[in-house]
Amino acid sequence: MSGERTIRPTEVVTDARLLLDAECGVVALAVWPGSAGDDARDDVDGGDERAAGAGPWIGPGGAEVTESLGLDLFAALERERATGKAGEVVSVPVFGAGRGAASVDGEVDVTLVLLVGLGDGSVAAHRRAGAALARAARGIDRLASTVTLTSDDAALRAFVEGAVLATYALGGFRTKPVDDARAPLGTLALAGDGARDEVVATAVTIALASWTARDLAQTPSNVKDPEWLAGRARQLGAEHRLDVRVRDEKALADEGFGGILAVGMGSVRPPRLIAMRYEPPKADRRTPHVVLVGKGITYDTGGLSLKPREGMVPMKTDMTGGAVVMGVLAAVRELGVEVRVTGLVAAAENMPGAAAQRPSDVITQYDGTTVEVLNTDAEGRLVLADAIAYAVAELEPTVVVDVATLTGAATTALGRGIGALYSADDALAGALRDAGEAAGERLWRMPLVDDYRYALDSAIADIAHIETTKVGGGSITAALFLQRFVRDVPWAHLDIAGPARAESDKNELVKGGTGFGVRALLYWLEAGAPVT
Ligand code: BES
Ligand code: MN
Ligand code: ZN
Repeated sequence: MSGERTIRPTEVVTDARLLLDAECGVVALAVWPGSAGDDARDDVDGGDERAAGAGPWIGPGGAEVTESLGLDLFAALERERATGKAGEVVSVPVFGAGRGAASVDGEVDVTLVLLVGLGDGSVAAHRRAGAALARAARGIDRLASTVTLTSDDAALRAFVEGAVLATYALGGFRTKPVDDARAPLGTLALAGDGARDEVVATAVTIALASWTARDLAQTPSNVKDPEWLAGRARQLGAEHRLDVRVRDEKALADEGFGGILAVGMGSVRPPRLIAMRYEPPKADRRTPHVVLVGKGITYDTGGLSLKPREGMVPMKTDMTGGAVVMGVLAAVRELGVEVRVTGLVAAAENMPGAAAQRPSDVITQYDGTTVEVLNTDAEGRLVLADAIAYAVAELEPTVVVDVATLTGAATTALGRGIGALYSADDALAGALRDAGEAAGERLWRMPLVDDYRYALDSAIADIAHIETTKVGGGSITAALFLQRFVRDVPWAHLDIAGPARAESDKNELVKGGTGFGVRALLYWLEAGAPVT
């Protein structure tokens, strides 16, 4: 058993040949909803004109396919009552394929035409359309698409990201390979002259960074312990020229990482602090330094404050924040990010062992703050506090962003689709929210209010790590706890407990770990990690 990637993600290329010359057995065309006021469609380059009247339009290449293959695509749309809404896919088999009827230049027979709805043509609609196309094209070797021929760069990116993400799967844990018919589309050949190869490459890099995070999150915790995670970080570092340094339990003790140690000591598999560093090619003394901190709890039983069975099962994904940080670091060099980026993953297994911390213990965090631990299931903030305090004291960060599956309360507040965003810095919060919006990972700003701070007062230590007075707002009090450790450094906190996992396949998400945060953070870093 291993966590090696044995499933090949879809490869995306551009191909300048005419649709039917692209040596693909399957072609995909755009469908736009037809409605009053849609006359503008007539102007779309290569768009297929259709007789006046309501009903969806078919995009570039429609006429070519209709004539060469003798298909009535509009009849097919009508038969399926297709509207052209985003993510709708109508499959039109080509009868007679294989008998030369549909072959072009005697090369590859077109056996299938996929008609892909682009809805309102928005970026989000393109992401959905890409995902739907990829799902419909499972098991296919090569597909030629004109769906995005007239789309702008942002929409093309979203389409490609959606396509690559939607057929994610973790390989390596089955003794029999999955059916070939379920395999991701082999190659997605986008019609075009290569002028937008860089846009496509960027999208693929970002989608694969999410694959990396999903792989880590999906790996079961009997395999995935803190040292395993550190090994993957070293491997990613070697592949992407990153400096990787791992602190083991002895180094953590020597340097005073009391939170990571306290959480990790209930397990026979000791904790680690993983640091991955990226230096841009043209850095000087003024180059900003972004520090990303990820919660890396490789399994969260709750510790002695044990979770009930149902609550525990999904907790192999409690290192998603760390996985997101690792996925991001694996992509920054390829994306040409121009700021320094350090990723810190605070990795520990939260177990009830003979040496486990007890509810009511007082521990000392990296910066010397004493903390009364009243519930060992609130472990995330303890490991994060050490890593944040370390970053602030030692790394001269311009900005710190932490990512964590921190509280069930965040899910209660925002549900599964939206991440909770906390920051005292309006510009930073705005930039992250915008990046998330563009990337298809919604973030909602939450109040980091002083009003609830008193709830963390402790009768015996500097601070309690959970509320000692009932104020509610568990995601907020967790954020307030972390804020103590950032001092005056611009900081944002992403509580991704909700969106880190998907309950079912939906659009670009696949049931299980989502890697939520990778795309938002990479879009933000690509933009130069704006803070103010
Ligand atoms: N990892 C959990 C939070 C979580 C819960 C993530 C459900 C994803 C789904 C975290 O360590 C935790 O247990 N938080 C507690 C905090 C409480 C004890 C103050 C929670 O949310 O119940
Ligand atoms: Mn917990
Ligand atoms: Zn946890």
